[in-house]
Amino acid sequence: MDPATLPRIDPDTLRADFPALSTHVYDTTVAYLDNAATAQKPRAVIDRISRYYESENANVHRGVHAMSQVATNAYEGARAGIGAFLGVDDVGEIVFTRGTTEAINLVASSWGRLHLHPGANVVVTEMEHHSNIVPWQLICQETGASLRVVRVTDEGEIDYEDYERALAEGAALVSIVHVSNTLGTINPVERMIDDAHGLGVPVLVDGAQAVPHGPVDVKALGCDFYCFSSHKLFGPTGFGVLYGRRELLESMPPWQGGGDMIEEVDFDGTTYNHLPHKFEAGTPHIAGAIGLAAAIAYVRGVGFDTIQQVEADLLAYTVERLGDIGGIRFVGTARRKTSVVSFLVGETHPYDVGSILDRLGVAVRTGHHCTQPLMKRLGIPGTVRASMSFYNTRGDIDRLAEGVERAAAMLS
Ligand code: ALA
Repeated sequence: MDPATLPRIDPDTLRADFPALSTHVYDTTVAYLDNAATAQKPRAVIDRISRYYESENANVHRGVHAMSQVATNAYEGARAGIGAFLGVDDVGEIVFTRGTTEAINLVASSWGRLHLHPGANVVVTEMEHHSNIVPWQLICQETGASLRVVRVTDEGEIDYEDYERALAEGAALVSIVHVSNTLGTINPVERMIDDAHGLGVPVLVDGAQAVPHGPVDVKALGCDFYCFSSHKLFGPTGFGVLYGRRELLESMPPWQGGGDMIEEVDFDGTTYNHLPHKFEAGTPHIAGAIGLAAAIAYVRGVGFDTIQQVEADLLAYTVERLGDIGGIRFVGTARRKTSVVSFLVGETHPYDVGSILDRLGVAVRTGHHCTQPLMKRLGIPGTVRASMSFYNTRGDIDRLAEGVERAAAMLS
């Protein structure tokens, strides 16, 4: 899209929508650059959650009374809105979870127990978050299946030839990250899904770091499962979404038992509820669903064209400003990236740099970012990671760069 045709959004007005961006740490206003860990919440989300608790709070799917029906309508309305955000009309394909981690555990436990066996491979990559490694390790231990790990290049891209080899060796499932939380790499998931499907292999995509940065249409992608967390998309924590193709979800056994997931319970045997409720045992995170739907409405209001334009500028400016500092080494220089910049400062430990930045009010994440195998592959203990959202400004990046310069001088 031609940037000249984009709607003009006043950055100050937009930032004013996020109360936490005015938080004071030490004696200054925070420069919040830890959005890949969790994003801040707009007033519209905070207000919607408050309204639910103030005047609509009741359990869902259970009561004939008016408040329960209001809550149920809001909760199921949220499911429809979240489905539409992913390009899904069939709400039975939208399962609510506690987050990306629980979604992957659900698929690993339910689908994995059904399909994995000795000799079967689950294909992951070296850049996966622990949440897309450990659930597969657990189910592989149980079933005798194996993990096949696809290599990552020094630049932080998937070694596509190794991916093709992994598929040719025989795969039961591919489970890949859409966007790396540590490197910002946008993986070529469309091609990876097509190639896997060409061999009849289903694909799960971990979209936790993708959905805040661009539109995702799971039907156009053609993936079999897609999951993400609400809190990285400006919604509440403790809530997430698993999209699964109906045919697959229908074939999978429940993974947790309890209320709401049943059709009829008898000591001689229990039958299960229809999708998606078969996978949603117990009272759900009602405010989570309603809050996420409000967050999605907010994001749609800003628009991904605007978000991508602002974030591309912030990414380029961060690389330019940090690149001018002696001794900086960028970790992850993929050709297609979101607004995540991981780096090291000379021989200093990321934690020391992060602590100095913190005292200056600049919030970044340091460490292995729950990607220890990737750190081992790259031969580093961790990184300093600045992750930008559309509400960040060049002023935030100036503060980051000044802090890094100061840290480099103090620690050298
Ligand atoms: N996975 C989140 C991160 O990258 C917590 O920081």
